[in-house]
Amino acid sequence: MKEKLNSNFNKKYMFTLCFVLSVINLSAQKVTIPIATDSNLILLQTDASNTLKTIYFGKPLENESEYPGVLDAYNFNDSNAGVYNGAYTPAGTWNLSEPAIQVKHADGNPSLELKYISHKKERVDNNATLTRILLKDPVYPFEVTLCYKVWAKENIIEQWTEIKHSEKKAVLLQKFASANLYFTNKDFYLTSFQGEYLKEMQPVESKLLQGIRTIDSKMGTRAMLLQTPNFILSFGKPASENQGTVMMGQLAWSGNFKMDYEIDSYKNLRLIAGINPFASEYSLQPNEVFKTPALLYALSNNGTGEASRNLHDWARKYRLLDGQGERLTLLNNWEATYFDFDEDKISALFKDAKDLGVDMFLLDDGWFGNKHPRNNDDAGLGDWQENVKKLPHGLGHLVKEAKKEGVKFGIWIEPEMVNPRSELYEKHQDWVIRQPQRPEVYYRNQMVLDLSNPEVQDFVFGIVDNLFVKNPELAFIKWDCNAVIYNAYSAYLNKKGIPQSNLYIDYVKGLYKVLERIRAKYPKVPMMLCSGGGGRADYEFLKYFTEFWPSDDTEPVERIFLQWDYSYFFPAIATDNHVTDWGKQPIKFRIDVASMGKLGFDIVASHLNEKDKTFCKEAIANYNSFKDIVWHGDLYRLVNPHENDISAVMYVNPEKSKSVVFNYLVNNRYKLTATQRPVVLDGLNPKKKYTVKEINLYPGTTSTIASDKVYTGDFLMKVGINPNVTLQRTSVILEINEVK
Ligand code: DGJ
Repeated sequence: MKEKLNSNFNKKYMFTLCFVLSVINLSAQKVTIPIATDSNLILLQTDASNTLKTIYFGKPLENESEYPGVLDAYNFNDSNAGVYNGAYTPAGTWNLSEPAIQVKHADGNPSLELKYISHKKERVDNNATLTRILLKDPVYPFEVTLCYKVWAKENIIEQWTEIKHSEKKAVLLQKFASANLYFTNKDFYLTSFQGEYLKEMQPVESKLLQGIRTIDSKMGTRAMLLQTPNFILSFGKPASENQGTVMMGQLAWSGNFKMDYEIDSYKNLRLIAGINPFASEYSLQPNEVFKTPALLYALSNNGTGEASRNLHDWARKYRLLDGQGERLTLLNNWEATYFDFDEDKISALFKDAKDLGVDMFLLDDGWFGNKHPRNNDDAGLGDWQENVKKLPHGLGHLVKEAKKEGVKFGIWIEPEMVNPRSELYEKHQDWVIRQPQRPEVYYRNQMVLDLSNPEVQDFVFGIVDNLFVKNPELAFIKWDCNAVIYNAYSAYLNKKGIPQSNLYIDYVKGLYKVLERIRAKYPKVPMMLCSGGGGRADYEFLKYFTEFWPSDDTEPVERIFLQWDYSYFFPAIATDNHVTDWGKQPIKFRIDVASMGKLGFDIVASHLNEKDKTFCKEAIANYNSFKDIVWHGDLYRLVNPHENDISAVMYVNPEKSKSVVFNYLVNNRYKLTATQRPVVLDGLNPKKKYTVKEINLYPGTTSTIASDKVYTGDFLMKVGINPNVTLQRTSVILEINEVK
């Protein structure tokens, strides 16, 4: 009975609604807004009630005059259709699907409606444009601006939202997505990247089925510990390297994130992505602008390979700090000494660095703390003074000693953190994120400092500033972050009467403020982003960092997989790869694998036997000769380790005259058949002629590849070249050179 009443009511209601809409329809002019890259078009259009909808997402249309006809081609015309494809769906009024935005107004009212007001498109530079679309609530003085920055040539879109109001008191933002996208293709495949310590960036691809699939993080700091904000969306079929339409994206935000992929009742896909609203209702003051982080995405109709190359190009040109510059090869002491070192031990390693031929020595964790010396990971964090027992002459002395050996000197810090066994904790418990009435919870024996507090921001900035003021020749910073946020509570916010639910967001904003200040004063010095392995890497952070540490897992076979998966999103110049003693692979294999990004070492080089030492020096010299191609060239992923017994990856310079191809055995099964087939190259010029030479040969071995044979690019890209990877030749690097 009740159901019947409801259904009668619905019919009546729908009739009235349609009538109202059609009346408005007579008067309202539809506005169509294209957001176009060279190979993709998003069409936004107002409906009869002036609500902005997404009506198209796909290949560009030749004729703009046909834009208005797009909607007629679809037959999604019952009432739900208009709910699902909102360009930024509000909550509390007509929309009953997952909202992009939900607010509680100053008077406590939870309803929001957003109507199109105006839009403008401006040119940012000769490649990029910015479209801003203003939407307003007809009842409350509340507005949202949808922003789309487009790099047409690279097919990259950066999309964010700016939220503002002029109500009498603060408005509570309960949800505030960066992007609310809609796709009408059929069948969607999502690759998300799961992780954990030592197992970062593990891809899983699955078809999206009805309902909402959520990928999110609530870790606070090490946001990528269990899930990453990176994704590949493939349309119509699973993602592949050289075919098909894909969107590769990331939420560029260094805190909690949430991405909802919803297959609606028409089998269309809605994607709502942004900061995770979990425990984060944000109190927004009148006339303050809340700018969401950006959802960044690369679009390609030729598979993930092209999308990655575009993303890498874009990152190097426009985002990664010094993306088109140089990097320092290095020797790090973490795995060589852990916390157990003194001045002499470290100085001896400077000599190793020089003998190897790397640019820099990096002093890792353990150099600080006096009352609570940092001799293991349960003390000292927060007390950033040199430990006088280990380093009686201070860091300045080490910088000079390194210089004498002709190597630069870099240092590790973890400035956002504190051990309860530290002078900092003793003095400033109120600076620590902790619940005052509950037992403390530790991650690696430490807690997180409250970066929503400006005094803490000053302290963290001061750590870096003091290091540079005292040691102007310091050449590098490794910035670590090992703990997640437990017991999220800020004494500062409490004192200021600001809701605790601002903490997760204000923490990240505070961190960005510190990084802004560091970069204003020290614009160039290279910094590595590290987070207990690879717990952090996103394109907002990488505005301030030159590179990141993908994982503490440096076992080289594992690393082939990890580097492959990171390479979808990040260029090799940003990816730090170190040679360590992990695993059982020979030094050649380890160096070859680490040479596919920014090369470093974390071994005691003086313990190597003579042959290994000779090999290391030669390999570093070779690396110096081809690193420019790896850092600035185009990446082609040739043979996927997830699907084959071998893996192959190549980098080509922009002139297509030089390339380096890395081939590895990734499966030790007895009867290896993989190299029966050649590896088919890519990215060369079919008309050019090339030689193929094996490099990084271990002393005493010879190559099975004839280096004097000349091939056309056409041959190498159709038939290929056989690297002869076998159980005896597990790692093969080939240098391809144009012959004129
Ligand atoms: C975690 C990092 O991933 C390591 O490389 C090392 O710096 C340690 N922290 C030091 O505590």
